[in-house]
Amino acid sequence: MKKIAILASGSGSNAENIIQFFKHHPNIQVDSVWSNKRDAFVLERAERLKVEAHPFSMDEFISTDKLLNEFKKREIDLIVLAGFLLLLPQKFVREFLVVNIHPALLPSYGGKGMYGVHVHNAVIANKELESGITIHLVDEVYDHGKVLFQAKCAVESQDTPETLALKIHELEMEHFPRTIEALLSGSD
Ligand code: GRF
Repeated sequence: MKKIAILASGSGSNAENIIQFFKHHPNIQVDSVWSNKRDAFVLERAERLKVEAHPFSMDEFISTDKLLNEFKKREIDLIVLAGFLLLLPQKFVREFLVVNIHPALLPSYGGKGMYGVHVHNAVIANKELESGITIHLVDEVYDHGKVLFQAKCAVESQDTPETLALKIHELEMEHFPRTIEALLSGSD
């Protein structure tokens, strides 16, 4: 059985979707969900879905190897960043396969500060005709690793950041779990 650890900072709709997708999967399971925010809704969602949910401190994440060692102990095969707002320290990237989802077509609209509604605001301000999602491997640079999958949607003149976010959300729900499944099926 391949094991996933999900890191998330916010609402966790992607985390929930991934948990549901792999619930009865023969080879892949979501081991646990981890958040840098003690009150993140993602932790409640995970508990409701009977998946272990853990908040962690910056100290456990960065200064000590507590979290890293915990993932090793659990024999995690893949770390999934699902709305995780911190840069992952290099030590995680060296030890684990890590995947992230970004709500735009990288390399455009990536980098520091480009998350959530800020991305959609920028896309609309620049009158882009399309946006989409990018699912990519994570390396030490924000929004930089190898692209595994992209899907596009149209940006129409009447779109607002909120309506665009809904379109992007649909793409995320459809494609993130399947891309994770393909990634883990291709790795030994
Ligand atoms: C998603 O739009 C994802 O692309 C981005 O953060 C958002 C997380 O939303 N990285 P949720 O917490 O999964 O609802």
